[in-house]
Amino acid sequence: MYLNKLQLWNFRSYENLELLFPDGISILYGENGQGKTNVVEAIYLLCTGRSHRTNREHDMIMLDRPWTRVRAENLQKDGKHTVDMVMARGQKKRILVNGLAISRISEILGQLSGVIFSPEDLDLVKEGPQKRRRFMDIELSQVSKNYFYALNEYNKVLEQRNSLLKETVNTSSLEVWDQMLATKAVPIIKARRDFCSRLEPKARENHKYLSSGKEELFCFYKDCAQGKENIEETLLEALYKSRETDIKRAFTTIGPHKDDIVIKLGETDLRYFGSQGQQRTATLALKLTELDLMHEDLGEYPVLLLDDVLSELDERRQQMLLEKIKGVQTIITVAQKTDHFKNINANYFEVQKGKVFKR
Ligand SMILES: Nc1ncnc2c1ncn2[C@@H]1O[C@H](COP(=O)(O)OP(=O)(O)O)[C@@H](O)[C@H]1O
Ligand SMILES: [Mg+2]
Repeated sequence: MYLNKLQLWNFRSYENLELLFPDGISILYGENGQGKTNVVEAIYLLCTGRSHRTNREHDMIMLDRPWTRVRAENLQKDGKHTVDMVMARGQKKRILVNGLAISRISEILGQLSGVIFSPEDLDLVKEGPQKRRRFMDIELSQVSKNYFYALNEYNKVLEQRNSLLKETVNTSSLEVWDQMLATKAVPIIKARRDFCSRLEPKARENHKYLSSGKEELFCFYKDCAQGKENIEETLLEALYKSRETDIKRAFTTIGPHKDDIVIKLGETDLRYFGSQGQQRTATLALKLTELDLMHEDLGEYPVLLLDDVLSELDERRQQMLLEKIKGVQTIITVAQKTDHFKNINANYFEVQKGKVFKR
C-alpha cells in the first residue's frame, strides 16, 4: 500500500494543504508546535476513523472554522482508493470511500491501513493493560471488520450490564446479561488468542534482532477464560463468582475488557521488573511485529507512521529500525534533521507554522 496524496482543509493548524508523498521514507522535520503530528494524526484518522490523540473530534477542526475535511488517495494492489472525511461542528462526521458515502464507520477500515508508533506507545509494556488491549483491538479491527463488529457488540452489552449494576440489582435480569456477555466475549477472546499466538514467535525474533541478547521474549494473552476451550461456560462461571464484587463495585470486573498481554523476558515479567531499556526494546519489537502481522493479513505493508519516537531510541536501535522498514512506506517526524539520516535515501519536508515545504 502506498499513500500518495493527502489533502487537508481547516484541519488543526492547516488551512489548506496538499502533500504528495513518495514511496519509501518521508521525513517531516520542524520545531515543536509547527504541525508535524497534525499530519500524522490526519493520516491515522483516515486509517481507523478516529484520532490517535483525542476523542473530541471537533478539536481537529481549525479554530473558528465551521468544518474540516481530510482526504487521502492511496494505491493498493487492486488499484486506487480514496477516503474522504468531513467533520462539521454540531454534526455527525461524513465519510466517503472511493467517492461513495458510507453509513458505517467500519467501512473505512481496510481502505488505508496504518501502524503508528508515537510517544504514547513507548510505554506499551510498562503501562496498564488498557494500552495492550488497544494494541490488539486496533490491529485486529483494521484487518477484520468482523472483529470490529464483535467488539462493538460486546461493548454495548457490557455497558448495559454495567448500568444495571448501578441500579438496584435484580438477579434474574443480571443472569440474562451474563449470558449475553459471555456469548459476545467468545469471538473477541478467540481472535485475541490467535493474535497473540501469532505475535509471540515474530516478536521474539524481532526482539532478538534488536537486543542481540540471550534472553528470549515471551508474550501471551492472559484471558478471563483462563485459556480454556469452553470460553463461554468458563466466563459464565467466572461472572457468577464475581457477581457480589460486581454489585458492590457497580462494574463488571471480569471479561475481555479487563484482559491483558503478559510480556516476559526469560522469567522476568517486563511490566513490573523490566528496566526502561528492556521495556522499550520489547515495545519496539512488538510494534515491528504489528507491521509484520498486518503485512501477513493484508498481503501488503501498511503505511508506517513514526511520530517523534526516533529520538527516543538509541542510535543502534534507530539504525536497526530503519534497516527493518526498508520497503515499507514510512512517514517519520523529527524535531531536527540530524546526521542519522545521512545514509538513508529519504525525502524531506520542512514543517513550518501550518505549511509544509518539500526540501
Ligand atoms: N483545532 C486547531 N486549530 C488551529 N490550530 C490548532 C488546532 N489544534 C492544534 N493546533 C495547532 O497545531 C500546533 C501543534 O501541532 P503539532 O502537529 O502537534 O506540532 P508538532 O510539530 O510539535 O508535532 C499548535 O501550534 C496548535 O496551536
Ligand atoms: Mg508532535
